[in-house]
Amino acid sequence: MFYISTWRGLLTAGLCLIGASFVLAGFAYSSILVAAVGLACWIVCAHSVAVTFMRRLRQFAEKTEQATLESVLAIHDIETAISGLSKRLTGVEQASERAEKSFDALKSTVMTRVDKLENHAKRIDRSVNDGQKQQVKLKVDTVREFDAILQIRALLEPDGPTPYFGGWAMDSMSVLRIAGEILRRRPRLVVECGSGASSFWLSKALERTGGGRLLAFEHLREYQEDTVRFLAGHRLDHMADVLFVPLCRMMVGDEPYDWYDLSQVHLQPGSIDVLLVDGPPGSTGPLARYPALPMLHPFMAEGALVIVDDTIRKEEQEIVERWAAQYELKELGSFGERTMAFQFGAQKGALRLAELAEKAA
Ligand SMILES: C[S@@+](CC[C@H](N)C(=O)[O-])C[C@H]1O[C@@H](n2cnc3c(N)ncnc32)[C@H](O)[C@@H]1O
Repeated sequence: MFYISTWRGLLTAGLCLIGASFVLAGFAYSSILVAAVGLACWIVCAHSVAVTFMRRLRQFAEKTEQATLESVLAIHDIETAISGLSKRLTGVEQASERAEKSFDALKSTVMTRVDKLENHAKRIDRSVNDGQKQQVKLKVDTVREFDAILQIRALLEPDGPTPYFGGWAMDSMSVLRIAGEILRRRPRLVVECGSGASSFWLSKALERTGGGRLLAFEHLREYQEDTVRFLAGHRLDHMADVLFVPLCRMMVGDEPYDWYDLSQVHLQPGSIDVLLVDGPPGSTGPLARYPALPMLHPFMAEGALVIVDDTIRKEEQEIVERWAAQYELKELGSFGERTMAFQFGAQKGALRLAELAEKAA
């Protein structure tokens, strides 16, 4: 842009006008000189204007550059701020996800615990119920046991102190049933595996029948001597032979057992009318009482009574199952809470194995 605003412009214009007047007035050389000076002034003026213009243009460019730089910086700052915000947003999102996950985990833990507590409460409920049932059963059993003791004493009329029932010894209900069977059957020979309190009651029952004999096997010397002494004290020694019969290793079928060594015991074939299996103790080996029938069956009378104690135990149930598969055994039912009776040599009866299993449960 070119305009006349400075003194150089005015001077140039003045000189040009003077030059032009000299031309009009006819002063050719003077007018050329004035025109030249005016042109020079114009050039100077134009240069000055151009310098000013360039300076302003430079200033404008610098300002523009500065403004651009500032804008770039500002944009960079904004971008940095946005990136920071975005990072924070991501952080907040991750924290929220984490919080959600830990809430879920907490919820699941709480639910599991609630479930466990519910199950626990149900178990407690069941235990309380079972406990109440057992309490009722215990009362009934106690009354029955007591009643059986009274009946045994009335039936056998023992004098002096008598051995206790239960625990390691047979319970009173079983002894009452066995005593009843002895009085009814009047056996000639009763064989007992495992001596103790029952030896006294069996001898007493035999005494009441006026005949018969008890042959008891005892593998522990101490208890054999105790029983012999006790029977002698009650003047029953003539009714019973309580023998010390140690256990020995023997093969029954393919299996080894520790059972009574009968090599020194004399038995007549078909002579045993009643067999009570209450020894050896289960602690002497697995299925410890199984050999009783395999070893004694040649000496059993047809229709003999076989009594097995502790049939609430799984081992005794298995023993009975094995016997039933091998011998003619007819189940006669329960002789008390934990005692079963069978008839030997009768037609094979269906064993109530389901009932046995139920008792074990
Ligand atoms: C299951 S107990 C049964 C004894 C016997 N049939 C009775 O009912 O009294 C089996 C074993 O207990 C042992 N025994 C005998 N008298 C005992 C006593 N006073 N205390 C602890 N155990 C005894 C004997 O070794 C016996 O063979």
